[in-house]
Amino acid sequence: MAIAEHMEEAEEYSSPLSLPDEAYEVYRHLYGKLQLHPGSRAVVGITSAIRGEGRTTVALGLAATIAQDSAEPVLVVEADIENPQLHELLGGPRRGLVDAVTDGEPLAGVMTPITPNLLVVPAGSHPENVGAFFYRLATSRLPQGDGWWPAVVIVDLPPIMNYGYGPMIAGIADVLLMVTRANVTPTTLVREAVARLEGNRPRGLVLNDHRTYLPSWISRAG
Ligand SMILES: Nc1ncnc2c1ncn2[C@@H]1O[C@H](COP(=O)(O)OP(=O)(O)OP(=O)(O)O)[C@@H](O)[C@H]1O
Ligand SMILES: [Mg+2]
Repeated sequence: MAIAEHMEEAEEYSSPLSLPDEAYEVYRHLYGKLQLHPGSRAVVGITSAIRGEGRTTVALGLAATIAQDSAEPVLVVEADIENPQLHELLGGPRRGLVDAVTDGEPLAGVMTPITPNLLVVPAGSHPENVGAFFYRLATSRLPQGDGWWPAVVIVDLPPIMNYGYGPMIAGIADVLLMVTRANVTPTTLVREAVARLEGNRPRGLVLNDHRTYLPSWISRAG
């Protein structure tokens, strides 16, 4: 399926992701750290030790930045099926990763464009058996099919420590980026998560700082 067809299917680009100028620079730096060969079509996985570390924020920010700068089709896949967030961005439930994997269909059939060259695959339906779904995903990888495939694919992975299959699922990515909440997540947990990944070591670590740098009187005024 060609990107042009996706664009025709889109009702509207109601939720373009715009970031503060300084955030684009952070994501550009991060992308450079991944050292991807141009045209490699490597799948980038965003992982973390536990929940709430900023995986979805980083996945979307990185995707929005690369989509803007490269003008190439960029896809975000939501593999964190137990805490789906993308359906909110899309304004309602849609078929997604779970549906494509369960029905044995290529992922192209469940991609939704949110800007002309930024597409997302939401988690989709909740599977009857999460363990069975993760096993299938980890062992079959992302269903690319024979047709069109985006230049850059970024996967919002489930957290490593929360799932027995966490490290196996991380294996669907060619390159891993680990996000951790700076000064919050215990280092031992991050170390344990990296150890569980064994040979599949993350190529980068994002020290995500949830602190706001706004003066407190401005925050209170809101
Ligand atoms: N650098 C940051 N500064 C301020 N807030 C942040 C930052 N990064 C993430 N957040 C906020 O922290 C919360 C958790 O972030 P996010 O949803 O990206 O994490 P997650 O790892 O995907 O979480 P989950 O495991 O629940 O899916 C969100 O409300 C997000 O807006
Ligand atoms: Mg998330």
